Amino acid sequence: MSAGDCRIVVLISGGGTNLQALIDATARGDIPGRIVGVISNRPEAGGLQRAARAGIPTAVVDHTAYPDRERFDAALAEAIDAWRPDLVCLAGFMRILTPGFVARYAGRLLNIHPSRLPRFRGLDTHTRALAAGETEHGASIHFVTEELDGGPVILQSRLPVQAHHDPASLAADVLRTEHVIYPLAVRWFCQGRLTLREGRVLFDGRPLTEALQLDELDPAELPA
Ligand code: GRF
Repeated sequence: MSAGDCRIVVLISGGGTNLQALIDATARGDIPGRIVGVISNRPEAGGLQRAARAGIPTAVVDHTAYPDRERFDAALAEAIDAWRPDLVCLAGFMRILTPGFVARYAGRLLNIHPSRLPRFRGLDTHTRALAAGETEHGASIHFVTEELDGGPVILQSRLPVQAHHDPASLAADVLRTEHVIYPLAVRWFCQGRLTLREGRVLFDGRPLTEALQLDELDPAELPA
């Protein structure tokens, strides 16, 4: 990866607001790289239009057309590799990936998850956070490993859970923070500041003992 030309492929399944945040951040120059392709496993995903509007090539690899996960993941990998990415971002990509796929992109595969991992892996995170009486909730960016939502966490957002929150309003408030933390983590990756070594995140060459917190970052870390 040469400086300023990190090639990013984004995988989506839905509306693609996180994809939009990444598109906007690259357009502003906050990320030293560009999105070279967007792939959806659902032909109707709204995010495909967001990519097309931004002039980004798209592809659909429809999981319903494949008999099993292995063959779907092989087709997905073929589509991804055609764009020769330095980084693959899962952004609301709602498929469980095979170990072979994860290994192929080890150290260059990021995911956003709408909870403060390790709290609430899996689905329905906002409903579960409310049911558990959490006082704080948020989102996490992590490197993807074989364990579902279990890879090492890089950066998290945090917000107070308030009396007025229901699952929908909590999801909306968390989503706004997702649009800040994903571009920031991708910026760091493309700047060469983030690496995965032996299952641990190195940030500026030093192992992270715990996830970075958006609300504790030095303001100098945030794009102008
Ligand atoms: C986000 O909440 C993301 O964390 C989750 O799915 C949602 C996708 O939203 N995995 P969008 O498609 O980026 O708008």
